Amino acid sequence: MARADLPPLKSHSADFERLFGYSVGFFGVWVAHLGRHMGLLERLAGNPMSITELVSAAKLHPRAVEAWCSAAIAYGLVSKKKGKMRLKPRMKAMLLDRKNPDYLGGQFSYLALRSLEYGAFEGLFKSGKTREMSSSLGAIEQATDWDHYAFLTAVRREKNLRQLLSKGCRLLDVGCGTGSLLAKMHSEYEKSSFVGIDPSGKAVARARGIAKVKPIKIIKQAAESMTFEDEFDLVYLGESLYAARDKERVVSNCRRALKNGGTIAIVEGLLPESNLQSDGNRLIMGMQLDFALQGYRFMTEREVAKLLIKFSRVRFEDLGGSVYLVTAGK
Ligand SMILES: C[S@@+](CC[C@H](N)C(=O)[O-])C[C@H]1O[C@@H](n2cnc3c(N)ncnc32)[C@H](O)[C@@H]1O
Repeated sequence: MARADLPPLKSHSADFERLFGYSVGFFGVWVAHLGRHMGLLERLAGNPMSITELVSAAKLHPRAVEAWCSAAIAYGLVSKKKGKMRLKPRMKAMLLDRKNPDYLGGQFSYLALRSLEYGAFEGLFKSGKTREMSSSLGAIEQATDWDHYAFLTAVRREKNLRQLLSKGCRLLDVGCGTGSLLAKMHSEYEKSSFVGIDPSGKAVARARGIAKVKPIKIIKQAAESMTFEDEFDLVYLGESLYAARDKERVVSNCRRALKNGGTIAIVEGLLPESNLQSDGNRLIMGMQLDFALQGYRFMTEREVAKLLIKFSRVRFEDLGGSVYLVTAGK
């Protein structure tokens, strides 16, 4: 194509701007993830540094660090003044502080790590072949950290739950993964005792490492095979119900595991039933592809409510980013 035939790069159409923004966003995710993964953001959050100082502190290749620095400045992640770069406190909160409600860093890292497996989409589209996550544990931990802190904050707001956990109760984490929520719960509610179950051998091995010196019991088991009865005050399912093949059975097993008056708490990304095109729903709508690749799909609010039909006081709380906390009582 001759140069004169190329479409003008500067278009006045809003659609063009939006689409162009998607390619910018792709690199934004990687600039943020690499800055976290390579420890560059962490270093810039301490002292302002020149590129040369950053290269030698991080012991990384100068050409890569230089390219990252100029991209990070252009993307507004770090600022530069008198030759020194720094990470502003507000950026630090969003990119590094896992407990901050505005924390987005884990999401960037999840997306970057997951994209390493997206070559498998070819197989999904051509033959419906799904693929278990293999970059998984690290990627999942990056993504669910935010959920955990959002759940802990919601528990602190709920007087009854907070008092129950503070006085000492029994909590079951169904699909506990690497056990990182249980570890967080234990450090906040030392008098309570915790059990986590998960069918993944890898996740359970990691969870047992975390639980070693704490009163946390980890069992390798799928939720469909749980036989607990009238034992727990709180049953938590964090981004795990979507993964269960027999959801009715899982919810029924959770109900049996609860004492009378106990609470089930489900944290899940839920697909909207309307407004599918709105900006606010775009992330979960895109994320459907990631789920489809793994052979999963997001549930809707209506589907979760149907699963909880035998519970009372079913409540949906929007935690943000299409993630909901659903609580219900036995
Ligand atoms: C996205 S991870 C969430 C892990 C953990 N709840 C967290 O918040 O970090 C989903 C977890 O559900 C587990 N899982 C999948 N199918 C399950 C089933 N049938 N019963 C229980 N857990 C299951 C997976 O092994 C995985 O560890």
